[in-house]
Amino acid sequence: MKPEADLIIHNSSQLLTIPPNSAFGIDSLGAIPGGAVAVKNGLVLETGSSAGILSRYCARETIDAGGRLLMPGFVDSHTHLIHGGDRTGEMVMRLKGATYLEILKTGGGIHSTVKATRQASQEDLTARALERLNHMADHGTTTVEIKSGYGLDTAAERKILKCAASLNRSSALEIVSTYLGAHSLPKDRHREKVMKDLTGPSLRDFRLLSEYCDVFCEEGAFTLEESRTILTAAKAAGFGLKIHAGQFNALGGAGMAASLGAVSADHLEELVPGEAKLMAKHGTVAVLLPGVPFFLQGKKYADGRRLIDAGVTVALATDYNPGSCPSYSMPFMIALGVFQCGLTVSEAIRAATLGGASAINREDRIGSLMPGMQADILILNLEKPAEIPYYFGTNPVHRVFKRGLKIL
Ligand code: NIG
Ligand code: FE
Repeated sequence: MKPEADLIIHNSSQLLTIPPNSAFGIDSLGAIPGGAVAVKNGLVLETGSSAGILSRYCARETIDAGGRLLMPGFVDSHTHLIHGGDRTGEMVMRLKGATYLEILKTGGGIHSTVKATRQASQEDLTARALERLNHMADHGTTTVEIKSGYGLDTAAERKILKCAASLNRSSALEIVSTYLGAHSLPKDRHREKVMKDLTGPSLRDFRLLSEYCDVFCEEGAFTLEESRTILTAAKAAGFGLKIHAGQFNALGGAGMAASLGAVSADHLEELVPGEAKLMAKHGTVAVLLPGVPFFLQGKKYADGRRLIDAGVTVALATDYNPGSCPSYSMPFMIALGVFQCGLTVSEAIRAATLGGASAINREDRIGSLMPGMQADILILNLEKPAEIPYYFGTNPVHRVFKRGLKIL
């Protein structure tokens, strides 16, 4: 009697297993031509040739991939998914010449989304965010990190993080939540008072609702020293650390956060010399968000090539948010990673899967289809990995499985 799997998906063009720890190079996707995957209890039981897997296992359900590409689900490790309102009007202002930072300084930008988010009920915010999560699943994302940051007072920040917790229960996707109370200085409060709140006893309450603490280290938001103070307090309260650094100006936030043991530093278009080295030394993942300079028509993209060459693990994420990148599409981020950040196709695909998993400290469980990993699986309407960036701007997803269950 053959051992029974819950599910076998076979007859792929290639199965990309994305082995952890493999050196970057030609074989770094762990491709099995014509490969199959056997799934049991939501985990990958075994991978191999289709004939081999079908001869070794029987299965309750067998799916013929029809010669399509199989790979792990995308891990979107940086989003601001929960918010009220939209900012199409600001996009039109930018097209007429206003810059993102100018709009922010005059009370628009993040502040306009804060206003809309404070006004919205928890139920409305959750319903809107669930629709966005469904769009993400349609584009092959199976795990999503979600930040707060559009509340900027205790009650509204808590409301957003409660939405994230309820989405984790109601959505098929897996949610990781991050407290970003330090997204911007609220218009209605003094700097000293804000810093006191962000580093005070409420941090421990927010820790009950979120795994990571993040800070926007940028001109017009938090200085390097303020960011260090906030992250140091967050570390003491038991948070994992993240930072928005180098989006427009090189303030040294990525190196500072790496020295504090941050799991990731995100954006990184602008770096101070030596920051990449510090990130490599402390194992801080570089989360590249190339949809942001694309949407803001910036001239500069993060130099992923240099970061990888310096020994830094790289992730690609959407940064979905209403102001600087309202995109749900990880395949499009792979295209931008290849065309604008200097990544090879294999590096970009790794960055969108296992790299993203590393940026949320889950690389032992997701982002790969090696035996024992979670069976978060995509069947793409493609034959070869290079077709993901090649057919940029299109959605290649045919089917999506989360923990071995078909969700699309
Ligand atoms: O990651 N940089 C700061 N926060 C977001 C943008 C938020 C907004 O504009 O609403 C970002 O790009
Ligand atoms: Fe962001």
